[in-house]
Amino acid sequence: MIFAGTFAELAARARALAGDGTSRTLLGIAGAPGSGKTTLARALVACLAADPPPGAAPGQWVAHVPMDGFHLADVALRRLGRAGRKGAPDTFDAAGYAALLGRLRADDAEVTVWAPQFERDLEQPLAGAVGVAPAARLVVTEGNYLLLDDPAWRPVADALDEVWFCASDERERLRRLVARHVEFGKSPAHAAAWVRDVDGPNTDLVAATAGRADLVVPGDVLAGLGPAGQSA
Ligand SMILES: Nc1ncnc2c1ncn2[C@@H]1O[C@H](COP(=O)(O)OP(=O)(O)O)[C@@H](O)[C@H]1O
Ligand SMILES: [Mg+2]
Repeated sequence: MIFAGTFAELAARARALAGDGTSRTLLGIAGAPGSGKTTLARALVACLAADPPPGAAPGQWVAHVPMDGFHLADVALRRLGRAGRKGAPDTFDAAGYAALLGRLRADDAEVTVWAPQFERDLEQPLAGAVGVAPAARLVVTEGNYLLLDDPAWRPVADALDEVWFCASDERERLRRLVARHVEFGKSPAHAAAWVRDVDGPNTDLVAATAGRADLVVPGDVLAGLGPAGQSA
């Protein structure tokens, strides 16, 4: 189903998914590299955090856990001979991600669940960077491979209550992706080659999973919001 409403209506859908908060809800956002997953997740979390349901802990009731944190470190990729394919499905710790989602679902009232985060400046994952407090009733998690039909990744989709798919204009997505690689240190030529040769096959894998999403979210839903996903 393609979502045809406004950003406010999309945020309302996420809020409704969380229900009365008796159990913790996990919402996934999938999409190709550069399609706007992180931007959408940040915008949703910022919008919902600013307006908590009655009785919920402000700033804690909604959390953002990126799949990107489960990138294998370069030291491991070199050992595996996969450094040149960083970003492909087998360069992530899929089982570790699924296990973390399982811990989040377990919803232990005594435990803050710590997740890793991908540091773009280092291009490395950093453990213990994202804390999900027991008060978090809605967790938004986002990444390329949430809907991959692969034995390693199926437990991820199984752990999620709903998965949305970020659709985006292809030329715009490619432009943003090259710009991001350049921003974080690649030359324009290297960035363009990387997007074609490394990100390209990954994008095809992700695009093939859109049909499994509960909702397809067009990029223009974020029109009017700034690039960081904050209200403009
Ligand atoms: N709807 C949008 N409008 C304008 N810029 C956007 C939008 N969505 C994403 N961007 C920009 O595109 C780039 C990639 O977005 P990002 O959310 O990081 O994608 P992803 O997490 O899917 O890789 C970022 O520089 C972001 O600021
Ligand atoms: Mg991202």
